[in-house]
Amino acid sequence: MSETIENLFQEERSFPPPEALASRANARPRIHQEAAADPQAFWVEEAKKLQWKQPWDQVLDDSEAPFYRWFVGGTLNVTESCLDRHVAANPDRIAFHWEGEPGDSRSITYGELLAEVCRTANALKKMEVGKGDTVAIYMGMVPEIVVAMLACARIGAAHSVVFGGFSADSLRERIDDCACKAVITQDGSWRRGSVFPLKKNVDDSLIGQQTVKNVLVLRRGENPVDWQEGRDHWWHEVVPEMSDICEPEEMDAEDLLFILYTSGSTGKPKGIVHTCGGYLTGVSSTFRNVFDIKDDDLYWCTADCGWVTGHSYIVYGPLANNATSLIYEGTPDHPQQDRWWKLIEKYGVTILYTAPTAIRTFMKWGESLPGGCDLTSLRLLGSVGEPINPEAWMWYHEHIGQQQCPIVDTWWQTETGSIMITPLPGITTTKPGSATTPYPGIDAHVVDDDGNRVERGHGGILVIDSPWPSMLRGIHGDPERYKEVYWSRFEGTYFPGDGCKIDEDGYLWLLGRIDDVMLISGHNISTTEVESALVDHASVAEAAVVGRADDRTGQAIAAFVVLRGSEVGHDELIVELRKHVANKIGPIAKPASIVFTPDLPKTRSGKIMRRLLKDISEKRKLGDVTTLANADIVEAIRDGATDPAGEDH
Ligand code: WT7
Repeated sequence: MSETIENLFQEERSFPPPEALASRANARPRIHQEAAADPQAFWVEEAKKLQWKQPWDQVLDDSEAPFYRWFVGGTLNVTESCLDRHVAANPDRIAFHWEGEPGDSRSITYGELLAEVCRTANALKKMEVGKGDTVAIYMGMVPEIVVAMLACARIGAAHSVVFGGFSADSLRERIDDCACKAVITQDGSWRRGSVFPLKKNVDDSLIGQQTVKNVLVLRRGENPVDWQEGRDHWWHEVVPEMSDICEPEEMDAEDLLFILYTSGSTGKPKGIVHTCGGYLTGVSSTFRNVFDIKDDDLYWCTADCGWVTGHSYIVYGPLANNATSLIYEGTPDHPQQDRWWKLIEKYGVTILYTAPTAIRTFMKWGESLPGGCDLTSLRLLGSVGEPINPEAWMWYHEHIGQQQCPIVDTWWQTETGSIMITPLPGITTTKPGSATTPYPGIDAHVVDDDGNRVERGHGGILVIDSPWPSMLRGIHGDPERYKEVYWSRFEGTYFPGDGCKIDEDGYLWLLGRIDDVMLISGHNISTTEVESALVDHASVAEAAVVGRADDRTGQAIAAFVVLRGSEVGHDELIVELRKHVANKIGPIAKPASIVFTPDLPKTRSGKIMRRLLKDISEKRKLGDVTTLANADIVEAIRDGATDPAGEDH
């Protein structure tokens, strides 16, 4: 019988936690063991660190699994844990330093943030938005996007943040799906030196739309906009008039906090549902322990609030912990490719949380850019969104972390709400490319096709065997799809859809989506391991591989490679790269073809779209491209891919 997924890549390097960090880390040394002994007791202890109005009378109700309920009977308003209690202690502590792309900046205290949240909440109330309603938020990374989210939470309305780079059609689909009553937007947002017309897209999305009665518009881009009297309201005219007191709506722990759509590579986007009590417990606990936040830290998560990373680790997790964060509005290459490093230097950022796609882009741009800035304030680095190839991990460690900073590679999903598999920086010895072990209280395992746990040293499918507080509560409006997608692969177990292997030390190595696994001559090979072997070569910054149909081997590996710096691809390099992969992980994984490309097709959140590369490799018409961020690259790759160079050397 063949392995569910082969284990090919062996990584020998490891990095123990720095002594200074370990000795004063937030996470107790025995936290994993204690939580394993009684997971519910662990979550109760974490939940008690929040501000509740009424205590719960049952920790977990599993009587209608997989429709689990946490902290049953408890009530709270998440904004009290995030704002009021900190304002009572010290209203002048900075919540956010914000820098606009053009270079303007603001600093906002917890006191100011609470006042603006209340004013905005009152403005929403005046528009007859209240508990049970849903508000679409379609903005860029301005402080007011955080205000808008919290204002909804204050009055018990759910927010549905739609990434500000999505089209009018995508916005419309999401507005309709949850029947939004209002939209909060901007005239335009700054991106790479120009203004993206958000309000125009909102106008287009609302043509013939019935449920949206009001649109609140922040002025930012100062671009001209059309105006519909009665429906449209300027933020600067409405919000400052409002009272800065707004009593927080008392919410059941299981009341809706937000809906967030995941693209899903095919089919209608899924509206992932998160509720108040369990979600805040999960994000608050993980933020404190994984990022080891201290009073004097300056934390920067580079995500956008349009993704779950922004919800959990820009807004709710940091604010619940009274953190001070940096928010940056624009792209990393404006006005120059060293903007991020300049920001770290200017603000003295101590904790940086970003994505492998960004790290590999910086590898491509070269280390002299971060090398030209003072990054010594950094003490901890994080990664999320995709498997981080060991060589990208090492680059991050050396050129950003200056070999001083632990890296927390955090595995989780929109659906999981908070971080699930991760090092704890004062406890865990890290290995480049491994997300290491489950967070305390999380019951993650690797199983084979039949659902049996695999032995150490083997690959298989990741599963979560017990519910956890911040888990999704469903797909909006589609309970059957919820059961089918997440709970039907193995009875009673959550199925995230990712491949994973477990090494001899019990460390977990995420291997990419199960759907992307390649079947080469009867061997199941993960995309991640072949890509990591390619990125291991000194000339390579980034790689994507797919299995394309092949008469002889079933599938053959087609590789797409982005080179570092100014390197150019040539035939000898193709031979060398194939040899490199064979040496690193074995001849079975040698790509049959290699195409050099300046970039890879990616989703707007930066994930490689292997499905499109497969379409190109099999010379098919391209499938759904609506979630593609960089459309032009597909044509460029297609031209390159039809060039036979590199085919079966
Ligand atoms: C999928 C979830 C979680 C916030 C951002 C993405 C992949 C995420 C890692 C990681 C390997 C990772 C998985 C997962 N993924 N983090 N550290 N190592 N893979 O949220 O858009 O819901 O995507 O991203 O495939 O299932 P998302």
